[in-house]
Amino acid sequence: MTKILAILALMLIGSVYATDHQKGVIQEGPNLGQPATPEEVAALSINVFPDGRGLPEGSGSVTQGAKIYQSNCIACHGVGGLGGSAEPLAGAEMSLTSEWPEKTIGTLWPHATTLFDFTRRSMPMTAPGSLSNDETYALTAYLLYLNNIVAEDLVLNKETIMQVKMPNADGFINIYEQEKQKGK
Ligand code: HEC
Repeated sequence: MTKILAILALMLIGSVYATDHQKGVIQEGPNLGQPATPEEVAALSINVFPDGRGLPEGSGSVTQGAKIYQSNCIACHGVGGLGGSAEPLAGAEMSLTSEWPEKTIGTLWPHATTLFDFTRRSMPMTAPGSLSNDETYALTAYLLYLNNIVAEDLVLNKETIMQVKMPNADGFINIYEQEKQKGK
């Protein structure tokens, strides 16, 4: 019985295929949405790469960042980046190699440019994408200052951010380079 059903099913599929095929019907996609305009693509294409590609114009200081932090970030991340309900943004006491590694901006993040990119695209969590370039430079400067990486009088922009050396900058390996060498 099952066999007969299976054969019938195959015949049915075959005939549907055959008729569509004969009519020259090309199956298209579900026709959802509409093509994005170049402007729409540009608005979402905001990647900033570790080497600084994609960094926008603008600037912001540690002091400005501290003010923006008070009104936009403190509710989740706590005073000075500590003690909130969300991820700590500073102050790791244990090293990455201890039994309980503390992965914070100061201990783990290898590039200040990535901090800029992440903050601009995803914070504050309730309104991602709402920070201006100046605000993001200021917040990045403040977070770097909280992690004792830069001085209090720093003004961050697309040039000065490239001079910031993160403590764990050399702690990563480039897996793509390794695989290339292995011939993968
Ligand atoms: C509504 C709560 C909330 C607010 C407000 C908020 N954040 Fe966050 N933030 C989070 C949560 C939750 C995470 C962890 C999510 C994740 O890692 O994907 C996070 C992660 C981060 C991280 C990555 C930390 C790490 O080491 O992984 C940074 C940097 C950050 N937030 C910056 C900010 C800044 C700057 C602001 C203010 C403009 C802000 N956040 C506002 C909830 C919030």
